[in-house]
Amino acid sequence: MATTIPYSFRLNYVVVTVAFVLLVLVLTNRCEASELRLDYYASSCPTVFDVIRKEIECDVQSDPRNAALVLRLHFHDCFVQGCDGSVLLDDTVTLKGEKTASANINSLKGFSLIDRIKNMLESECPGIVSCADLLTIAARDAVVLVGGPYWDVPVGRKDSKTANFALANTNIPKPDDTLLTIISKFLYQGLSVTDMVALSGAHTIGMARCESFRSRIYGDYEVTSEKDAVSESHLRDLRSTCPLTKGGSSENNVTSLDYVTPDLFDNSYYHLLLKGQGLLNSDQELYSSLFGIQTRELVKKYALDPLAFFQQFSDSMVKMGNIVKPESFVDGEVRTNCRFVNT
Ligand code: HEM
Repeated sequence: MATTIPYSFRLNYVVVTVAFVLLVLVLTNRCEASELRLDYYASSCPTVFDVIRKEIECDVQSDPRNAALVLRLHFHDCFVQGCDGSVLLDDTVTLKGEKTASANINSLKGFSLIDRIKNMLESECPGIVSCADLLTIAARDAVVLVGGPYWDVPVGRKDSKTANFALANTNIPKPDDTLLTIISKFLYQGLSVTDMVALSGAHTIGMARCESFRSRIYGDYEVTSEKDAVSESHLRDLRSTCPLTKGGSSENNVTSLDYVTPDLFDNSYYHLLLKGQGLLNSDQELYSSLFGIQTRELVKKYALDPLAFFQQFSDSMVKMGNIVKPESFVDGEVRTNCRFVNT
């Protein structure tokens, strides 16, 4: 006699299996944050924090956009085999780097800033400070210099001898990913929905290219944004920066992710989302998606309470910076040039 399994039982089974798979993925991807310490360079390179801060200070003073470049580099590094400087590797005959992956190509910048700081560190303490640590510290300093919060950066990361082009294509969230896809990409890294909403607040600084926001401004921007003269004129400006027809020179035209205070790290990004004016689809989804019950509440909270945003952003940055593969402490190295593995 054939027995039928009740629907609710099958559903529970699917939910438990998916949760189990995610748990296994998260655990196998887990960091050994205990290996990272605040005083790791205290005797081997006591000036490391000062050197990096001074250099980033010059970069951000000469152009505040540099803060955004460094912060994004760090994020794209950590989401691919952990924070191990893999994003900094150039393509060679034997190594395919991550720079030409879809989320990075024609978009990720700031490599020369990192090279310059690395050269300074190599003359100060040769072979000691990893590129992955350099990037993590520089990202913190960059945020502070444009008005954002300070947090202590645990250090001791090693640089990878490999990069992963395929993982760069799959792990890094894309602006037209659905909210659920983006949440699952963060969960996979061991980062929560709260981390995701707080870290997205990084879009309070920096720019995006036409290619990244075209589908948004010719899609539901008019539906989500308020029908007032300011919003309407802003949308007209965006559309003249980024015409509907693809191709040509406008493809690389850029506009600020936060047009109200583009060079200041504040909570204005969340105010824009409340007004339905997020620039990327992925930004506005945090507030407007039907599936965004939790994310919507967090957006409201960070819009109302800038200190709560700063506190959570700091905590989440430490968490993201601590995504380190346990093997990296054994297999990794301190590169002398961030673009190439040591010979
Ligand atoms: C939540 C998922 C995210 C998506 C889908 C996303 C996507 C994007 C896209 C498409 C751009 C514009 C790139 C271009 O057009 O060249 C961008 C810029 C930027 N992103 Fe994100 N991002 C996300 C999360 C983050 C996180 C977690 C951080 C850092 C903690 C971050 C930091 C930045 C910064 C600073 C910029 C401006 C870079 C510049 O001025 O060149 N993003 N992001």
